[in-house]
Amino acid sequence: MTMPLDIQVRIATPHEIAANVVVVGVLQAGKSPALPPALKPLDAALGGALARLLEKEEFSGKRDQSVTLSTLGRIPAEKVVLVGLGERRGLRGAAVRTFAAKAARTAIDGKAKSVALFFPAGVDPDLRAAAEGFELGAYRFTKYLTGERKPKGALETALIGATGKPGAGARAAITVGQKVGAAVNLSRDLSNEPGNVIYPESFAAAAEKVAKEHSLFCQVFDFKEIRRRGMHLIDAVGRGSSRDPRFVHLAWKPKNAKRKLVFVGKGITFDSGGLSIKPAAHMGIMKHDMSGAANVVGLMAAVAALKPRVEVHAIAACAENMPDGNAYRPGDIWGSLDGKTVEMVNTDAEGRLVLADALAYARALAPDLLVDVATLTGACLVALGTTCSGWYSNDEGAAKEFTAALDQSGEQMWRMPLLEDLREMIKSDVADLKQAGEMFGGSITAALFLREFVGDCHWIHCDMAGPASPERPLGWATTKGATGHTVLTFLAMIERAAR
Ligand code: BES
Ligand code: MN
Ligand code: ZN
Repeated sequence: MTMPLDIQVRIATPHEIAANVVVVGVLQAGKSPALPPALKPLDAALGGALARLLEKEEFSGKRDQSVTLSTLGRIPAEKVVLVGLGERRGLRGAAVRTFAAKAARTAIDGKAKSVALFFPAGVDPDLRAAAEGFELGAYRFTKYLTGERKPKGALETALIGATGKPGAGARAAITVGQKVGAAVNLSRDLSNEPGNVIYPESFAAAAEKVAKEHSLFCQVFDFKEIRRRGMHLIDAVGRGSSRDPRFVHLAWKPKNAKRKLVFVGKGITFDSGGLSIKPAAHMGIMKHDMSGAANVVGLMAAVAALKPRVEVHAIAACAENMPDGNAYRPGDIWGSLDGKTVEMVNTDAEGRLVLADALAYARALAPDLLVDVATLTGACLVALGTTCSGWYSNDEGAAKEFTAALDQSGEQMWRMPLLEDLREMIKSDVADLKQAGEMFGGSITAALFLREFVGDCHWIHCDMAGPASPERPLGWATTKGATGHTVLTFLAMIERAAR
């Protein structure tokens, strides 16, 4: 748990503000070097060092360009960082979030206790996005470090410089931003916990705690209930572990809701591959294989903060995929909640199985939109790399909305095709469906398999690159520690549906 920051708007200038690190955003100028007129007093206080440095570095304010200088006691701040923000019209929510996240991360890397952020003259700061960015950038997962390894201090204060008194909604915008940031960080915490700490039962307990804190609807099915309800595919996947599966359902149900959105997450708390066991090399990152479930639970904390007039459900299908005498086998044929039978071919293709039952359950809620998110295939990582997730949709209207939400969140995801040609690969001679295809098109065949369980629902499927990417560019949902990726996009979907 990273402590929330103390975030304040301050009427101050970069050369007078009391903060360890001052981060100043600069818009792109026609030619370099670009010392904006508003920064002349800062340059003067630093004896002209800033202008000289900008000249030397050919700083033009291009996006992602930055220069850092030590102030050596000339002004209250110890360090000044100028960050290029590119063109003014590109400086929307996502870019502001990135800017603040970078500032927080720079401050933390320099062991600072406080940071102050200054927007270019004439730019009205998006306070919610800035607060989101501060919280996201300040995230670290350090709870298991002891002694010398334990971080000595933490970033405590984040200031936003202003020239005049902030508007009436300022405090509320910052509070919402902080809660959204904390919600994404909750997803990251759950994802980063190792498999000996987070297993289906403890994951469900964590979700219950979130529900209680925010007065959300919460229902957890234990293994007996999972079996009683006929969730045979979750049974198949979870039976090889000494840790029983759990099925978690959270919901926010406001009066006069305009629409109903249901989010389903893959919650494999550890994926050994089962009897089709994975090679040793990268098995450890499979503690993150519940990132989809972590994301939908974190999402609910953000929803509780925003209180949209939209009904939102989060469903987490949790199991541990392990090999033992009771485990499911390649060649097995299992039923499903939906009724369809599945011929197993590889016990490492477990995610689509728990999701299939969860999607069939979710369908019964009659959502206007059904979304699932899963660290589903290595194939998607091969296709898109570790910094981009894939997404699929069976409906162009939903796809359009999702594209708009992605534009708003700034999260990097790429649409993939539901190629009908590949449907052949999941046909079975002995059951209704085959669990997986062969070598090629692995992300697509997994998506086609899931599609069999969504019925007529408008559906978005996210094949997430979470586990293999412990490092991601700042300003997305993530920084250190895998995932949290997709939460901001889902939240944007919900906010759009509430309009
Ligand atoms: N959780 C994995 C997918 C994965 C692997 C995500 C590495 C991120 C990094 C999933 O359960 C899996 O093992 N999928 C198999 C499916 C195959 C056996 C059909 C895969 O992608 O290799
Ligand atoms: Mn697997
Ligand atoms: Zn898996």
